[in-house]
Amino acid sequence: MNDTPLITVDGLTVKFQQFEALKDISFTINKGDFVAIVGANGSGKTTLIKTLMGLLRPDKGSVSIVGDMHPGYLPQNTAVQERFFPSTVEEVVSTGLMAKKKFPKFLSASDRKRIRETLKFMKIPHLLKKRIGTLSGGQQQRVLLARALVGNPDVLILDEPTSALDQNMRGHFFDVVRHLHETHGITVLLVTHDIVSTGEYVNRVLYLEQTLRFDGTFDAFCEDPELSPFVHTHPLKHREGWCQH
Ligand SMILES: Nc1ncnc2c1ncn2[C@@H]1O[C@H](COP(=O)(O)OP(=O)(O)OP(=O)(O)O)[C@@H](O)[C@H]1O
Ligand SMILES: [Mg+2]
Repeated sequence: MNDTPLITVDGLTVKFQQFEALKDISFTINKGDFVAIVGANGSGKTTLIKTLMGLLRPDKGSVSIVGDMHPGYLPQNTAVQERFFPSTVEEVVSTGLMAKKKFPKFLSASDRKRIRETLKFMKIPHLLKKRIGTLSGGQQQRVLLARALVGNPDVLILDEPTSALDQNMRGHFFDVVRHLHETHGITVLLVTHDIVSTGEYVNRVLYLEQTLRFDGTFDAFCEDPELSPFVHTHPLKHREGWCQH
């Protein structure tokens, strides 16, 4: 982690008709940050991520990306069947490589190798030629994670990546992300309700409630009395690692 700004958000407001989903939000993400973005349902987390990805336009304020960022993006609840039907796993994962390519966008032998390696990394090499629509929800989520990772991103932007994963895969997933962060210095923005599992990894927590209610370390987040009921009524708060103060 260092203090080189990567993403700067300044006075950001995003509206849906009259409703302000995000209200006057400002923060900076530095290179190498590992940030958890938390908040209740409807608090604006996905709206924020989509705005960072350039998929929604600010009504006020700005988002600036410094230099060239190669994000790996995992959207929330992608309607996989509709978006990717009738593609195979190989084809879906390959779309994670396409953004970087110039026309004509053919897959090279090294692309195919990279896809196979990434599937192996996600422990699903045997799914390569399967049709995405025939897979279980958790298998589909692993495929989408592979798609986010296949292009060697320098920033991972993950919107509730573990929601369909079983306990084993959830652990494996956090190991993978932590490894990428620690050994490759990848910046991670992770939208999650699973702050219990992530609290020990992240160096920052952003807590949204339309406005940015909190931006600081996980320990400070736990200690902030203002943040109850989110912190203090969390069903898993007594688990190890969760706000032991
Ligand atoms: N396309 C849209 N049109 C109208 N309202 C929207 C749209 N997208 C989001 N909203 C509203 O904006 C608010 C924030 O939604 P958002 O999806 O960002 O919440 P979230 O924090 O990601 O919630 P969750 O934890 O359920 O994923 C909600 O009240 C939602 O209804
Ligand atoms: Mg969301």
